Amino acid sequence: MKKTKIFIDKTLVIAETDDRLFSSFIEHLGRAVYTGIYEPGHAAADEQGFRTDVINLVRELGVDMVRYPGGNFISGYNWRDGIGPRSQRPKKLDLAWHSIESNQIGIDEFYDWTKKTNTRIMGAVNMGTGTPKEAGELLEYCNFPGNTALSDLRRQNGHEQPYDIKTWCIGNEMDGPWQICHLEADEYGKKARETAKILKWIDKNVELVVCGSATSIMPSYPEWDRTVLEYTYDNVDYLSLHRYYENYGNDEDFLASFVDMNRFIKTVTGTVDYVKAQKRSRKTVNLSFDEWNVWYQQNQKEHDWMEAPEILEDRYSLLDALVFAGLGITLINNCDRVKIACLAQLVNVIAPIFTMKGGSVIKQTIFYPFKDISSNARGTALQPIIKTDTIETCYGASPVITAAAVVDRSGKSLHVFCLNTSKTDVHSVDLDMSTFGSLHFTKWQELSGSDLNARNTFEKPDAVVPHLNSTAECDASGKNGMFTVNIRPLSWNVLTFDI
Ligand code: AHR
Repeated sequence: MKKTKIFIDKTLVIAETDDRLFSSFIEHLGRAVYTGIYEPGHAAADEQGFRTDVINLVRELGVDMVRYPGGNFISGYNWRDGIGPRSQRPKKLDLAWHSIESNQIGIDEFYDWTKKTNTRIMGAVNMGTGTPKEAGELLEYCNFPGNTALSDLRRQNGHEQPYDIKTWCIGNEMDGPWQICHLEADEYGKKARETAKILKWIDKNVELVVCGSATSIMPSYPEWDRTVLEYTYDNVDYLSLHRYYENYGNDEDFLASFVDMNRFIKTVTGTVDYVKAQKRSRKTVNLSFDEWNVWYQQNQKEHDWMEAPEILEDRYSLLDALVFAGLGITLINNCDRVKIACLAQLVNVIAPIFTMKGGSVIKQTIFYPFKDISSNARGTALQPIIKTDTIETCYGASPVITAAAVVDRSGKSLHVFCLNTSKTDVHSVDLDMSTFGSLHFTKWQELSGSDLNARNTFEKPDAVVPHLNSTAECDASGKNGMFTVNIRPLSWNVLTFDI
């Protein structure tokens, strides 16, 4: 059996995790909105046509903010198409996803949906075909109390009270040539700065996210980030990061995705702090990792113009869930700078929740690690020190065991999240948590299995679910906070201790 040592010191604090670290994303894309969250006529639809079976799962998942309405979609979207009487809303071509947008859901209905799901909106303004003026008009419509034409229009449309949307993205992936009206870094930097000024003049309480690199493999990364921040540093609060991982055939490389994500975060943090130093600024811009997930982009197919096409409908395996869990650990361990993170996306489109049109809904495998962190990682994140084997991967040396530790907000429980990426080896993990004094082991939940390709389906919705590790070989005496636990190969574990 292999040996690993994890030292968790209660004084080695990274930061408090921000609730917005457990956010997600709904884009007008594929079946995320239509036949995803909204399906009038469905047996589970409420009076507004929202699927209550989906609402219940979003609540169970414990999502904080939901980024809306894009994504690439935002760069061609006119928000005015989605307000007012539904019968008068125009059908439009969505050039981002080669689809037809019916506009039956817009900002007003989506706001109602967030109330039903106990979530809140992370807004986005159009920096492709849109102007700074139009961005300001959307904010005025949403957040201004009343007695202006736009705020009164919202009231006429049924919402007397402002939406008070606090966090806004200034466009989406503007470095990407695929973006509608893509901009060069200087062009975007200037446009984003002027938009930010307008938005903060309209509502001084908003927090703004400026577009960083669309992924770390863009040729312009990280120069794009530096240039954009040089224009906007004083006007914005967060820089965005996006990153998706997929399996190109080597499971070890795929399992090491978290190593790459960690490096990406550290490099972007360095870039932000470089601009901070250059500007002699006392303000710190933090990070918004507002798109992260596993996504099989190689499987994307062409499709005809249609409403709600079945696109980006990845069906996740146990292996995908383990990779995903490693990314979750990395976000927790970087919570001093990553304040916002959005699992992209939430329903049907590369999502933890998957619906059948007219039928039932299932939890995909990635549902479980997200739920584990959203329900157990709110509190004080501690920096674990890990001594374990490494394996060589396309991302360099990757630790076989990776972990995060969070003391919950009551100060009464310590949660240890631990991923074993070895395909073959049980790791006997010595957990040294002696700075806590004696601890009481209470629960060990594990996601693992013999079939890495196992997936949840409508026929077998519970093929991959976590289980309590009742046979856990855990030296549970907890004397002086020392435990030894045997962590199975290819397993995701959440261990809970009473303090
Ligand atoms: O989440 C799917 C797409 O991925 C988003 O629309 C875009 O921002 C990213 O490239």
